[in-house]
Amino acid sequence: MDVEHREFGDAAVRRAGSDDRLSEAQHRIANNLALIAGYTRLQATRLYKADRPLSAREACIALEEVAARIETVGELHRLLSDAPGHGLGGGGVDLGRFLAKLCTSLMQTVSFAGDTVITHRDSGGCMVRPDQATPVALIVSELVTNALKYAHPTGVAGRIRVSCRSVGGGLVVEVTDDGVGLSEDFNPLSDGGLGFRVVRGLARQLGADLVYESGDIGLTVRLTLGADEEHRVIPLWPDRD
Ligand SMILES: Nc1ncnc2c1ncn2[C@@H]1O[C@H](COP(=O)(O)OP(=O)(O)OP(=O)(O)O)[C@@H](O)[C@H]1O
Ligand SMILES: [Mg+2]
Repeated sequence: MDVEHREFGDAAVRRAGSDDRLSEAQHRIANNLALIAGYTRLQATRLYKADRPLSAREACIALEEVAARIETVGELHRLLSDAPGHGLGGGGVDLGRFLAKLCTSLMQTVSFAGDTVITHRDSGGCMVRPDQATPVALIVSELVTNALKYAHPTGVAGRIRVSCRSVGGGLVVEVTDDGVGLSEDFNPLSDGGLGFRVVRGLARQLGADLVYESGDIGLTVRLTLGADEEHRVIPLWPDRD
């Protein structure tokens, strides 16, 4: 092959690689939009079954929760499109960087956040695959939203800490608040509304452990992703994925 032909061939291979990445990214965006749509429909069903008028505050919170989920996924795709190779293949997603952005965005956009401060800390090097990043992001978004809604019923400004660290090849992600904690008769592994059910379902998808520690100084939820790289992400709503 002469030089000109080889260069043409290299360019074609590069273009094919970039086309593959583009179509994979589009596929992922479509899946995530379907996920959010499914979640929103479940929320609509739940509100319908409650069979009572919503207060203005409740309606506002419900819509803001949907907006927060859309923003979470949008932020994730922005990060993926900035990442070398679109976060596909080797590199993955820097979860710490993503969670830092997510905390800032939730603090600034969710009106019921009030003066609550959301901080983020990570040990660095918390990389996840793109298919793991979405469930983790939605879990954190859900837990932070819950903390904003319930940790301080009196309305005082609280503190929420989000952290991630790598441990022995696995990852630990924690959301902690300094509020009232869960009531004693509440079992977070089986009780709760749509939010806790979705959190449990997403953790199951990830093959991750979920631990709740509730006490006088608030609630900590810890998600541990094992070192086992082959943890597959199974569809939350199989008929939609
Ligand atoms: N950080 C928290 N502090 C205190 N109580 C909490 C906290 N998080 C959740 N809870 C309690 O757990 C319950 C279940 O939460 P869950 O997210 O499942 O439902 P929800 O937020 O009420 O509704 P949604 O289905 O829209 O999420 C809440 O109604 C609340 O009483
Ligand atoms: Mg909730």
